Order: sequence, then structure tokens, then C-alpha cells
Amino acid sequence: MNILSLFDLTAPQIKHVLELASAIKAHPAGYQNSLKGRSIAMMFEKPSLRTRVSFEVGIQQLGGQAIYLDAQMIEPGQRESVEDIAQNLSCWTHGIVARVFKHETLEKLTTANIPVINALCDQHHPCQSLADLLTIQERYPVDLRVVDILYLGEGNNVCQSLMVGAAALGLKLTVVTPPGFGPKEAFLTQLNSRYPNHKIKVGTDLNAIPDADVVYTDTWLSMGDTRSEEETVEIFMPYQVNQELINRLKATTVLHCLPAHRNNEVTDEVLDGPHSSVLQQAENRLYVQKALLHMISQEKNA
Ligand code: CP
Repeated sequence: MNILSLFDLTAPQIKHVLELASAIKAHPAGYQNSLKGRSIAMMFEKPSLRTRVSFEVGIQQLGGQAIYLDAQMIEPGQRESVEDIAQNLSCWTHGIVARVFKHETLEKLTTANIPVINALCDQHHPCQSLADLLTIQERYPVDLRVVDILYLGEGNNVCQSLMVGAAALGLKLTVVTPPGFGPKEAFLTQLNSRYPNHKIKVGTDLNAIPDADVVYTDTWLSMGDTRSEEETVEIFMPYQVNQELINRLKATTVLHCLPAHRNNEVTDEVLDGPHSSVLQQAENRLYVQKALLHMISQEKNA
């Protein structure tokens, strides 16, 4: 099983990951041998705090060994091809967690026939979205289909993965971005084809934002973007999540995948305020990733 995006999981599988993550969170000792005797390679082309630490801690808590490989050490595509790296890793390890610039790099890693988990690429951040969904579920222990979710900002990898998760679970999600910064057309085509009855609205009109229970935002400047900070702030500032917006929408939960650029996409007042669930969201990375790793460990030939 590879998890390059949430498209790789069915809706029942996504629900199962969330249930398993809750079970692991409640009873971690029951899973302490899931990865016993197994090693997981962690190939990171980009910086990370939450993803790296939560995967390393999670692998250790499951009884396995994490081996961190940064791009300067192994130089993917330069010192040797990504496919050759994957083939070699399959000689010694039982899975690859990878944070990469391009989604295609993940596809190349899958050629070695050991499981690959996407730890962020240019198009998707599936582990983040699973943590987001678990956090929303914990905040609203009801049928999640009644919860109104709003995403404000750039239609980036985090947004696109949230959209797949929301579509799979039938959640109401409104995505509002500046004109020209919405989710990619090819992604929307894939989403509409896979989940034709989804309840996601995508637009740019700030005056048409509906009331929302959950307000989610992310950085306006992703790693690798070449726009200046000045230009970015000018385009995105009307989409800032601030207290006036939270009050107007009557929102009760604020999410951000972090790292946050304080007082750009979200103000200090909101990020540190009573509705902020960003640390619960960060903590939940650990449990959803342990759930994915446990599922992989249960596969035949794992
Ligand atoms: N949210 C997230 O992926 O954080 P890091 O970039 O620190 O891993």
C-alpha cells in the first residue's frame, strides 16, 4: 500500500484510519510492537519540524527504527536516481516516508515495492489532512457532515488534501482563495471524477463567505514560491484570519497546519486564542501516522 495522496484510500479506509488513530491515542501500549524488527527510511528533501518529529517518535513508539536521510546526504537524482535509491532502501527497510519537492519523485520511489507514505509534496499533504479530520472529529463529536468548514488562503497542497478528505467523508467545505490562487484545475477534475457528489464549494468572493464552525488557513508563501513577501501580503491580506472574521462567522475552531506566519495569514490574537486547536492538530499528526504505519505493518508480505 502506498499513500501518496488521500486518493489512494477509499472513504471506508479513511474512516478506518481515523478510528484506528483514536484507538492508538487512547491505548498506545496495544500497538507497541507493530513495527518490531522493522526499519522505516525517512527521505526529506525539505525542512520539517512536526512531520519529522512525529514520524520518528511514532515509529519508535511502534517498536520500529526510523532512519532519517536528508537530501544533502543522498542527493536524489544527482548522486543516483530516485529509483536506485528506492531499490537500495528496499534491501534493508520496510517502508519509505518521503517529503519531496515534486509528486513525481514519490511515484519513482514506489518502483521498489515497499510502501511509500507522502510526508508532503507540491500537490498533497495526506498525513496533515488525516490529522485535520481527526481534530475536527474530536472538536465536534457529532455527525461531521453537519459541521461547516471554511478554508481561506492559497489552494495549496494542504488545501487540496483537505478537499479530498472532505469529499470522501461528505463534509461541507468552502474554499476561498484570491483569484488565480485556487486549487489546480487537474486536481479539481480528479476530485470531481472521484467524488461527483462532494459538498465542496470553491470561490474567490470574500463577501460570499458563509458562517463556519471551523476556519482553516495556511501559509500564503509555500516553500519554493518565488513571489516577494511584499507582493504576497498585498494579494492575500484581505483573506487574513483575524478576530473580526472569527466573530463575524461565529466560528468555534481555528486550524492551521503550522508553521504559521503570525499576523500574516492569522493574527496572534486568533492563533493564541480560545478557539485555536493548532496544537491538538499538531499532536494528532502522531496518531494518524501511527495508524497508517500500523495498517502497513498488517499487510501481507509486510
Ligand atoms: N505541518 C507540517 O507539515 O509541519 P512541518 O513542515 O514542520 O513538518
